[in-house]
Formats: sequence, C-alpha cells, structure tokens
Amino acid sequence: MDTQVKKPRQSETARRVAALNRNEKAFHVVIAQQFDRAAIEQLCQLADMTRSIGEARPGTQFLRTLLSHRRAMLYFIQPSTRTFLSFSAACQIVGMPYNSVRDTSTSSEVKGESEDDTIRVLSQYFDLIIMRHPAEGFAEHVAEMLNEMPRTIPVINAGSGKDQHPTQALLDIYTLFRCFTESGEMRMERRYMRNAFAGKTIAFVGDLKRGRTVRSLTYLLCRYPGVRLVFVSPPELQIGEDIVEYLDRSGIEFETGEDLRKQIGDCDAVYMTRLQDEHDLHGESKSIDYDRFNLTTDMVKYFKPDLAILHPLPRRREVDQQLDSLPQAKYWAQVRNGMWMRAALIASIFNFDVAVRDHYHAYYAF
Ligand code: CP
Repeated sequence: MDTQVKKPRQSETARRVAALNRNEKAFHVVIAQQFDRAAIEQLCQLADMTRSIGEARPGTQFLRTLLSHRRAMLYFIQPSTRTFLSFSAACQIVGMPYNSVRDTSTSSEVKGESEDDTIRVLSQYFDLIIMRHPAEGFAEHVAEMLNEMPRTIPVINAGSGKDQHPTQALLDIYTLFRCFTESGEMRMERRYMRNAFAGKTIAFVGDLKRGRTVRSLTYLLCRYPGVRLVFVSPPELQIGEDIVEYLDRSGIEFETGEDLRKQIGDCDAVYMTRLQDEHDLHGESKSIDYDRFNLTTDMVKYFKPDLAILHPLPRRREVDQQLDSLPQAKYWAQVRNGMWMRAALIASIFNFDVAVRDHYHAYYAF
C-alpha cells in the first residue's frame, strides 16, 4: 500500500503566482491573477493615501525619502506614452532615481549580446526593472531568470504582447472604485469595506481578443461576485476562450454581443478600447467595420447619469471628443490615477506600505 501522503496538485496559475510572490504579496508584478480582493483593495487604499500625502509639499518631501536609496530601470522597447511617463512620475513621487532604455539599437544587443544577458546586466545596476516588451511571457521569463540570480530584484510587467498589462488593470479597478463610491462615500475606510461591484454592469468594447488591458482587468473583476460583464465586439475580435473559461470557473455572469447601442443603457461603466491592428498578420483588421464600436454623441441619451466611461488610451475614434466634457468621461482621471497607483505599487513591493499607512494615519486621517 502506498502510504505517501499526496499533496494536492497546485493549479498552473497557483504555481505561477507562487513563483512571483513573496510572503503572500506581489514581489514581481507580472500577471493580474497575483492580486486577490484583499491585495487589490490594500493597493487602492494605499494609492488613495499616497495621493492625499503627495498633494502638499510636506507630504511630497516625506514620500521622496522612501526609496531614494534604490534605483529603477524603465526597459520599454515597445512604444508607450502613459505607462512610461506614469512610472517615471511614480518613481519621482517615491524618490527613486531611474534610468531608461527605449531603443535597443543603442545597446550592446547590436553586438550580439542576448536580451537575457542584457537583463542580467541591468539587475546589477538597478533594484527594480519595469518592463514593456512585445513578447507574451517575456516578463515572466525575466522574473524566473532573476529568481535564479544571486542578487534577485523585482520586475514589473508594464505590458507584454497581447497577453497582460497588470498595472493598467490595477489603475482601472482603482478608477472604478473611485467612480462607484464618489458620491457621499469619500471616507477611504468605507470605500473598500463592501463589494462596490455587486450589481454593477461593466461593458468591454472593441478589440477584446488582442487587448491586454481587457484581459488583465477581467481577471481582477472576477474577484468580485455579483458583477456582470458584457463583451461587445466584432465577432472576429471577441474575448478569448481562456478568459471565458476563467469567467465560468469564477461564477461571474457575463454575455457577449455586438450591439453597443443596445447594451449601453444597462451599463454602469463602459471600457472602450482601440483596434489593436499592430498585431495583424496580414492586414485582416481592414475588413472590420470598427466604427460600430465607437461611443458617439447620439448615444448620450441612453447613458445612466452615473455611467463611468473608461479608456486605457491611446484613442482613435472610439470615444467622440465631444464626450470629453461630460461628467461620465473618466479617462483623464484614469490617467492620473495610474500615477498614484504605480507609486503605491512600488512602495508596496519594497515594503514601504506600512510607512505610508502610518504617515497617513498620523497626519492626514481626520
Ligand atoms: N494605456 C497604455 O498602456 O498607454 P501607453 O501605451 O501609452 O503606455
């Protein structure tokens, strides 16, 4: 008889999360599945606190002391405006000097150095690598590689191929929290005490198949039972089977469709996305009528008064510019929220979350 006690098999996701976390907390930040509800809300609260502290001069000076002894590398070899600049600003908020690589044609990779060796070299100069890369899974590969180095430093995935953009998802869910709780519930403790998403309908619109922000945010929203998700897209660009399976496993109510006009009146939030035609193999997007998935002025009459319109940006025509002045347009606030969320995330990775909380409670909680 086999008397060996068999350990339950870890799921593949659990194995990946275990390799990325330390002490049950994100060390590397690579996939959205690393964040459970408690972790999401602790980060949102920390972002609120960092924002409150950082909006006046004495608080700014306190925050700048936190990581002045560490250095960050922003390794962005795929185009970016917001993520690059908000991470730069976040580093400045927590006092972390940083350097950047945006063009590998000026690095020794042109002399034949492998990208892995380039990363290993960076890990000797810097204490954090923030990485945007066109290859799916590369940030996770880097995390595994760094775990094997004598000097292990964290990596943050700032966008990996069509796969994931976990820090965008964190700022998106932070924005949704702020939108769903703004009226009469400004006290931070209350904002995160209940499930703000129960009974809410959130629509994702556009290129959902290749939109990494949609994939990562869906993983986070699956932590909130009672939320209802609607995926509105051309059939060719519908959300992937892997996400559908995850939604099913998580017991989240969802539907798919392609009629934005019909769906918009039910929505508490709508998350617009652009066509990701940089991922086309043979120009296949050209035959898709994407204009049907644009939010236009004639739809305003269907909007709920508290509808939140989000967009990770950049936009093309998905949201008519005339909607920018509506109270429902939250995409500029979403950009700013990203800076505070990323500052909070960096503080948390380096275990300065307690210092921020203590400072907040000592000087700003009233
Ligand atoms: N939202 C976002 O990732 O924007 P960038 O591509 O400009 O960084």
